[in-house]
Amino acid sequence: MRPLIYAANWKMHLPPAEARGFAQAFLSAAPPVPGRTLWFFPSAVSLEATAQACKGRQDVRVGAQDVHWEPKGAFTGATSVPLAKGAGAVGALVGHSERRHVFGETDQETGQKVQAILQSGLTAMLCVGEKLAEREANQTEAVCIRQLRAGLAGVAGEAWGRVLIAYEPVWAIGTGKNATPADAAAVHGAIRLELARLGAPERIPVLYGGSVNKGNVRALIGEPEIDGVLVGGASLDPAGWAEIVASGLL
Ligand code: PGA
Repeated sequence: MRPLIYAANWKMHLPPAEARGFAQAFLSAAPPVPGRTLWFFPSAVSLEATAQACKGRQDVRVGAQDVHWEPKGAFTGATSVPLAKGAGAVGALVGHSERRHVFGETDQETGQKVQAILQSGLTAMLCVGEKLAEREANQTEAVCIRQLRAGLAGVAGEAWGRVLIAYEPVWAIGTGKNATPADAAAVHGAIRLELARLGAPERIPVLYGGSVNKGNVRALIGEPEIDGVLVGGASLDPAGWAEIVASGLL
């Protein structure tokens, strides 16, 4: 099996006790598979419970859904990288479309967050993707490239090995509409070219996200450009998620 990453973004779901129960049910249904890495992005309050429940599984990583770029200070409600790390996170999402378009996060802020994560030795999963109007105006690649340049400004050396990208067209998130595997693969190709221009010395995994489910996951990961998936709604049920992460085995 080629290396694949299956990432679950639990958004504002699964409090600690439920996250622990999920992990127990899911981990027994999904034994480790060589080459496959599993990520969970629980809410900040469930980070520690999830990390504890997944301890001992070398194939599983737990990350925060968002972080602040400052290491500490008067930022009520925010989670710093050291706070997330203290709770067991080994990485974080940055620039998820809900952070950008619901909470108004700027491109520049995504860059500050990526820097803070990488400087702490953690992994950053930078999310990029166009809105429907941007796709209709043929700006998909331009938007993704702009977001990549801002988000990855200053990344150098070994830190590239801790960068992951998720291409998530905004119009596909939580809508039941998803990019066709060929459309997604074309954008992934453009992302890969830009990563090379930015100086990435190695293949950076590029995941697809947006209404991935058990009916479409196999076709998506069948594209060599797609290195895995980032999944919201369909990752909330342990049995369903176990079925999805088994898709690369067939
Ligand atoms: P979805 O969410 O799978 O529910 O569309 C994906 C995401 O927001 O990462």
